[in-house]
Amino acid sequence: MEGRNDSCRMVPRNGRRVILFPLPFQGHINPMLHLASILYSKGFSVTIIHTDFNFSSTNYFSCNYPHFDFHSFPDGFSETEASVEDVAVFFTAINGKCIMPFRDCLAEILMKSKADQNKDSSPCCLITDAFWFFTHTVAADFKLPTIVLQTCGVSGFLAFTAYPILRERAYLPVQDHQSLETPVTEFPPLRVKDIQVLETMDQENVYRFVSAIDTQIMASSGVIWNSYRDLEQAGLGLAHQKYLSIPIFPIGPLHKCSPASSGSLSSQDYQRSISWLDKQTPKSVVYISFGSVIAINKDGFLEIAWGVANSRMPFLWVVRPGLVSGAEWVEPLPKGFLEMLDGRGCIVKWAPQQEVLAHPAVGGFWTHSGWNSTLESMCEGVPMICQPYLPDQMVNARYVSHFWRVGLHSEWKLERMEIERAIRRVMVEAEGQEMRARIMHLKEKVDFCLRKGGSSHQSLERLIDHILSF
Ligand code: UDX
Repeated sequence: MEGRNDSCRMVPRNGRRVILFPLPFQGHINPMLHLASILYSKGFSVTIIHTDFNFSSTNYFSCNYPHFDFHSFPDGFSETEASVEDVAVFFTAINGKCIMPFRDCLAEILMKSKADQNKDSSPCCLITDAFWFFTHTVAADFKLPTIVLQTCGVSGFLAFTAYPILRERAYLPVQDHQSLETPVTEFPPLRVKDIQVLETMDQENVYRFVSAIDTQIMASSGVIWNSYRDLEQAGLGLAHQKYLSIPIFPIGPLHKCSPASSGSLSSQDYQRSISWLDKQTPKSVVYISFGSVIAINKDGFLEIAWGVANSRMPFLWVVRPGLVSGAEWVEPLPKGFLEMLDGRGCIVKWAPQQEVLAHPAVGGFWTHSGWNSTLESMCEGVPMICQPYLPDQMVNARYVSHFWRVGLHSEWKLERMEIERAIRRVMVEAEGQEMRARIMHLKEKVDFCLRKGGSSHQSLERLIDHILSF
């Protein structure tokens, strides 16, 4: 992985500064900070703009990244408004609220940089999360080119932004139960049920939101994908066709290049997770985590607990506060549940996920199929059980199970017997061994694409030249 592991080494600055604007969610912050570290390692100075929302730990970030400049602005959300239950409503609102404060923040940074005697770090572009769909317009007013960072997988994102076309072609809205199985011929191997639209109180809002994201990409100076060519060749081909003259840069997996835990919003229970894993036998543990956003109900939570317990496999389970609706943490579990398992289970609030997946004791990952989790599992060769909730996760799960064939897609009811069965299929049966062999092959490809001459390495070189040309 030549050229990628040197992110924190002091390299001479190249006289250019990049300004990055992550969306304030863990699955979006991680790849943006990894990208910042890569660009820093290539000589760029780095400024990060962020909202107050979800980012109360600015000091923590500045400690982990003392070489970056951090600037924040208030997003104007009250506690109640900041609920993410209706994702489409939330994203539309946060985009609206941030336009003016973002403009002021950017203006101040640019003005200070002009006034600064030290002219060797003048801002040359804005790198924005794709879900901040207003930013290009603001940056254009300052004549600053915009590059979009796409933190979802290519196929997941393309299916998501194809809603308007899929509606025109009558796949959406879903007509009846039978049509759920209809193949979406534009996006094999997806079926209608893999492209379900976000649940929201105003469906039109979703279409507007999706179009706004796409319009921004079309107006931008490039798109960075946290993916790699060997994994999503067909999707990247479609992206080329769709975005025509917009240069695209598949430079992932981004997390293979900077310290794993430095972008975490919650403190990771490193000691408990790793010391518990150290006591387990190789490939015996199922690691369970549903990411940073989704919530499940109490009944589902209990089914998971009993299903895992009945599988008789050791497990490390991330139950973040807020995962179980209406509960503070793990109170819905029966009294003495973990004690009854005699050390076979360990529950933590937040884990050092990349280190956990790389641990020799971990043999399977029950995941919500967020794109970062999917990539991180691929990079460590860990087969998956996919339990998707959001639209891009549905697509990722379908690809994992039916295209790369490195996991199972939980199309079953969240019920203890089904769970027990799925865990045993992946962890102990021949089917699971075959998945492991296939995912190890993908892991090798990751290592190859990041090496000098590999596809992601080449894309990164192109990206650097592209930014230097502004
Ligand atoms: C969200 C969406 O859910 C996802 O579909 C989209 O692709 C990105 O944004 P999230 O739910 O947070 O992401 O999932 P994911 O993309 O998997 O990102 C979670 C990140 O948190 C990963 O990088 C993972 O390593 C990290 N994590 C998770 C921890 O560090 N510790 C944990 O205990 C759990």
